[in-house]
Amino acid sequence: MAEFLIAPSILSANFARLGDEVDSVLAAGADVVHFDVMDNHFVPNLTIGPMVCEALRKHGVTAPIDVHLMVHPVDALVPQFADAGASMITFHPEASVHIDRTLQLIKDAGCKAGLVFNPATPLHYLDYVMDKLDMILLMSVNPGFGGQSFIPTTLDKLREVRKRIDASGRDIVLEVDGGVKVDNIREIADAGADMFVAGSAIFNQPDYAEVIKKMRAELAA
Ligand code: DX5
Ligand code: ZN
Repeated sequence: MAEFLIAPSILSANFARLGDEVDSVLAAGADVVHFDVMDNHFVPNLTIGPMVCEALRKHGVTAPIDVHLMVHPVDALVPQFADAGASMITFHPEASVHIDRTLQLIKDAGCKAGLVFNPATPLHYLDYVMDKLDMILLMSVNPGFGGQSFIPTTLDKLREVRKRIDASGRDIVLEVDGGVKVDNIREIADAGADMFVAGSAIFNQPDYAEVIKKMRAELAA
């Protein structure tokens, strides 16, 4: 895989033709499909579940599918998403009573596991689980909707998490989600992120390849 991963969030795709949208964005150079699961309980919006993930696999999608669970409770959905073809599963620590158990459940199901931090969620949840993490996702908006503005304090938080990852000596991907655009992706990468979720920035443009090319040019600059 590339050094920097671009993960379009299908939340901003046209759901009436989702398979084609995912094919297009992957053909346009995306690395990973970001799959936002919302339950109208943990977050104030309702989206898609394991059936849709399975449908994408049956459609022929072979790229990694990054399932971002914005649900409470978490555990029952883990095996369902693993069976549906998820590659990575991340969840919010506030949504799990037994964080270590949920991480282990994800790994036992054969997926990469990660924790997601809302903008105001403290990082102490990392303290005793670094050895179980394949990825850490920092939300740069409050979860629930696409098209919001990047919250600038995320940059300091990214720098802090980058230090913790480097100190751990482990190969943990640092993902950022919310308000990522061509004009801020470089700054976000400089703060330590290596995986970038972008929904509206990509799907609201007519030419997905053009946006992804511009993002990669920024990252290479
Ligand atoms: C927000 C979701 C994001 C969202 C990003 O709760 O987790 O993945 O779709 O959308 P943009 O890139 O438009 O901020
Ligand atoms: Zn997301």
